[in-house]
Amino acid sequence: MKCCVVTLGCQMNQSDSERIRSVIEGMGFEMVDTEEEASLIGVVACSVRQKAIDKVYSKIRKWNQWKNEKPLVTFVSGCILPADEEKFLKQFDLVFRMNELPDLPDMLHQCGVASEFSAKHPFNDLHREDERTDFWQIDPTYSSDFDAFVPIQNGCDKFCSYCAVPYTRGREVSRASEDILAEVRRLVERGVKAITLLGQNVNSYGLDKKGQEISFAQLLRKVGELGQASGKEFWVYFTSPHPRDMTRDVIEAIADYDCLAKQIHLPLQSGDEKLLRRMNRNHSIEDYLKIVDDIRELLPTATLFTDIIVGFSGETDEQFENSAKVMERVGYNMAYVAKYSPRVGARSARWEDDISPQLKSERLARLSEILKRTSKAHNDAMVGKTYRVLIERVDPRMASALSGRTEGKLPVRVVDAPAELVGTFQEVGITSASELSLTGRLA
Ligand code: 5AD
Ligand code: SF4
Repeated sequence: MKCCVVTLGCQMNQSDSERIRSVIEGMGFEMVDTEEEASLIGVVACSVRQKAIDKVYSKIRKWNQWKNEKPLVTFVSGCILPADEEKFLKQFDLVFRMNELPDLPDMLHQCGVASEFSAKHPFNDLHREDERTDFWQIDPTYSSDFDAFVPIQNGCDKFCSYCAVPYTRGREVSRASEDILAEVRRLVERGVKAITLLGQNVNSYGLDKKGQEISFAQLLRKVGELGQASGKEFWVYFTSPHPRDMTRDVIEAIADYDCLAKQIHLPLQSGDEKLLRRMNRNHSIEDYLKIVDDIRELLPTATLFTDIIVGFSGETDEQFENSAKVMERVGYNMAYVAKYSPRVGARSARWEDDISPQLKSERLARLSEILKRTSKAHNDAMVGKTYRVLIERVDPRMASALSGRTEGKLPVRVVDAPAELVGTFQEVGITSASELSLTGRLA
């Protein structure tokens, strides 16, 4: 019995897939990489990205044809809008939400999948709550030996007007901190080198369980303590935070512990007050810049990444220029600039998408140019110095080189280095810098 799980989404979806794989492996399936070999095929997708959904439709059409030739069961999960869910129900054998994952063996049985699953399955003993969070207690099958995702929260209550996530993943629910810390501890004992705490809105962690759960800053401190006590070296990241909940104590916690990586992804979305309000972001540019100043003061070595949307409904030239100004002022190391596109379910989908594709492209190019300039200036200043680099893979374009990243997540190509270093930390002397990456040699 072979199963293939295809992931078409973000890091959160990859993390979902890791847990889905565990449950299916627990049923006695062997996981394979090719769809053709499998008798059970699943796709973990994201309605927020129309491209992902288009791909799901093309895949399910193909898989449904295969059903004429061999027995095949298909399922879909991930971040699915109710409207897509309804359509998928007609095409897939099974559609489920991530918080129903513990029931997957039962659901697959109902679809006629025979397995070694018995009534004594461990998931049957998990306690049930109104907000189902027992899927987090499933040990994931991690896809890397040294880089792991740990979900700390599911869903989002922020309702940014352009965003469909609150409708695909539901209300914000925090995972129990003991469970998070237990998973982090297991990963550290296994020798993992990088851990990313995942959530749609990580720094509002605990706010849904007021008084019963610790805050995000306290959670970071506990992870920091755990790192110190372990005596091991690893870097802990989190993504994504919301500026509104980015309190100074979060930044102070990061400053206090070596294992908390000095890299912060702080979505800006727009540099214009009025657009921020229309986006329902609920903070001002001044608030945002104050956080940046706190980061520069308390974490002087930190790199800063962001997400920005260009061509949002009604964005004037002047409003766009305000985004450009904030980008210049902050000097990001990385920015994921997206052209606005209406997402079904999101509030702004009812507003006019009135910025032409051409103008969106021009604005995107302007911001990319600013990013490349500020990032290059930062990278140039690293030349001649030595940095710790986590080696991630053999360089896909040069067999004698490796590629890795610094604590600040800046990509580094390490020339003349052996493949056995993948998954280790190395001291690398930086020899040259380009706009968005660095080159160096083992020191
Ligand atoms: N159009 C363009 N970009 C979007 N994002 C979210 N919704 C939209 C949309 N409707 C971007 C935001 C977010 C990132 C994950 O995707 O910048 O931070
Ligand atoms: Fe939530 Fe806004 Fe992030 Fe969407 S963009 S997941 S609504 S905080």
